[in-house]
Amino acid sequence: MNIRERATDILSKMTLKEKIGQLNQEAFIEDKYEEIKEKVRRGELGSLILANSATSGNDPQQKIFTDALNELERIALEESPSGIPLIYGRDAIHGHETVLPIPLALAATFDPELVYNGYRCVALEAAKDCVHWTFTPMLDISRDPRWGRCVESPGEDPYLGAKIAQAVVNGFQDENIAACAKHYIGYGAGEGGRDYYNCEITDYTLRNVYLRPFKAAVDADAATVMNSFNTLGGTCASSGSYLIKTLLKHELDFKGFVVSDWWSVAQLIKQKLAESKKDCARIAINAGVDMDMADRCFIDHLEELVKDGSVSQETIDDAVLRVLCVKLRFGLFENPFSRRKAMNYSDHDSIAENCSDEALVLLKNKNNVLPLSKNAKTVVTGPMAFEKRSLLGTWILGGDMSRVSSIAEEIKKANENAVLPSSKYLWDDCYWDIPDSDAVIVLLGESYKMTGEANSLCNIDLPREQLEYVKKLHRFGKPVIGVLCFGRPIGLEEAEPYFDAIIYAWHSGTRSAQSITKALFGDINPSGKLPMTMPRSTGQIPIYYNNAATGRITMAYYESSRAYWDRSSTPMYPFGFGLSYTKFVYSDLSPQDHALSIDEIRNGKKFVIKVKVQNAGKCGGKETSQCYIRALKSSMIRPQRELKGFVKKYYAPGEESYIQFELGFDELAFFNESSDFVVEPGKFEVFVGSDCYAKEYITINVKGTRD
Ligand code: NOJ
Repeated sequence: MNIRERATDILSKMTLKEKIGQLNQEAFIEDKYEEIKEKVRRGELGSLILANSATSGNDPQQKIFTDALNELERIALEESPSGIPLIYGRDAIHGHETVLPIPLALAATFDPELVYNGYRCVALEAAKDCVHWTFTPMLDISRDPRWGRCVESPGEDPYLGAKIAQAVVNGFQDENIAACAKHYIGYGAGEGGRDYYNCEITDYTLRNVYLRPFKAAVDADAATVMNSFNTLGGTCASSGSYLIKTLLKHELDFKGFVVSDWWSVAQLIKQKLAESKKDCARIAINAGVDMDMADRCFIDHLEELVKDGSVSQETIDDAVLRVLCVKLRFGLFENPFSRRKAMNYSDHDSIAENCSDEALVLLKNKNNVLPLSKNAKTVVTGPMAFEKRSLLGTWILGGDMSRVSSIAEEIKKANENAVLPSSKYLWDDCYWDIPDSDAVIVLLGESYKMTGEANSLCNIDLPREQLEYVKKLHRFGKPVIGVLCFGRPIGLEEAEPYFDAIIYAWHSGTRSAQSITKALFGDINPSGKLPMTMPRSTGQIPIYYNNAATGRITMAYYESSRAYWDRSSTPMYPFGFGLSYTKFVYSDLSPQDHALSIDEIRNGKKFVIKVKVQNAGKCGGKETSQCYIRALKSSMIRPQRELKGFVKKYYAPGEESYIQFELGFDELAFFNESSDFVVEPGKFEVFVGSDCYAKEYITINVKGTRD
């Protein structure tokens, strides 16, 4: 019997009550252990979430009670009416004990294989602690750095988001942990960067931008999807039948189950879409939500709703079948207990360190002041000098703090002459030491508590006191090197001139300090690229690279129009931007004017674009070469540039090699007015280079006539 047949067979023997139990998820709270045991015995629970609260991302660390969870599984198998195991879910967002960089920083690596390897480590660690299911990856396209949750996202670009989606889903699922693509959908588009807020997204943008990473996750066979809190087009994402049933389950052909977010079913009352929890349950299940997280709407009301005919038996069966299929697919019927395995933490550390190495983005390096010599007399200062917790970032429920070093400590190991601040609290007592120094390293940043769920900001500029401090440091005339540890892009326009060099270091996980130190002293060459545009200031938001051209006073790309009188309309740093200690030169982009017919493209033929990349500097380094297209004529407005490929590769000093990009149906197509995914005849410009400003371009031609 295959999984579906087994699930159907199990389903056929279940009572309505038992079925509804499978659709109920509650939190594992230690004090309620006895109560939970009884619920499992009665078959009222299909799943437990291993978290204490609705916004557990920044809560104090949360222990997992493995023995208790194993005992609950025993009860489920042996004493519950249907003998179906529980599925345990947990937010292993970017780490379990070993912590990888925040997801936004992982996207900055532009290295899906590395991200895949990182998440395999997370999965192994989580599995030994009874986790069967992770609420990851978060795939909300984020064009607004005010939104606290952009920290969890892959950034602003749907193509990069799709690559990251596949890497994370495969990383978990190859280690037998069910993944969950969230938050479905449009959550990143909250007006003003507010959390849980209203979003207005046209169907055109929904399909061409916001849905793309979700499609990639579904295509990678993600087991589950979580819906989101936001409202969208007059509906709530957690109750929109068009969004869940039509788009996700029908069009994307999603076969797994949809879980609500924490209380996103009961919130329909506050949104005035429902009058009671019973009403909430009716709306949500009929819209396609299969499992209800934490608010008990389903368990308390579905039976009554089936009996009075407002919810059909088929709807319940479909939901339960989906849940059972996931439980069977991930082997829970055979072994739902903790999968204890000896962990090789030093391997995990080194993978985490590769991730943090590759996530660092060098934004500025005036006069090649970096890398510093290990004999340099440096003065280390700034609020992040001895900070450890914030280096891990938000959502680290079980992150192992004992393995985290502070940046100051690591710098001292590499650079004996470094003068460190006196203490965590007296980090600005360095003025006497600066005149005798070669450089000042200022470690700036934001607390993890300023990022994540319900942590939006109105002003994303470098915090005023940090700006004033950098200005003071600058007055000494020594090179000022800024290491910026933030969970979002920030506005740097005012501060930028006071830095000689800037390393954007995010909150980069367990090995943050080691990676930063290596980059400062040249043991690695930074290679990260920005996954989100860095605005000059808050007022420019939203600003993203894949915008539409205006028909009016157009200046350069990204500016679109004479945007503001009081600011330049260009970003501070564009999407895809990141410097290196070496220099990469592009040439010989080809073939110019190549043509393929639309039929050839539909039949799988691709344009093969080649370019020569040369490391023209004196040290080795990795470059992420990026390929963007621009349709020169189409039936609907398409973005001025769209990322359609990237190649990250190491080049030895002086090395030159050809790399290639393939542009076929998937890369050239878009969703048109009728929501069909089509390639239209016409010319495309193809740009290749180091970031979205890439200047080298060729033209390719799709021949044919429009249908
Ligand atoms: C609410 C968050 O929105 C979601 O991302 C998370 O997975 C759940 N809480 C569970 O903790």
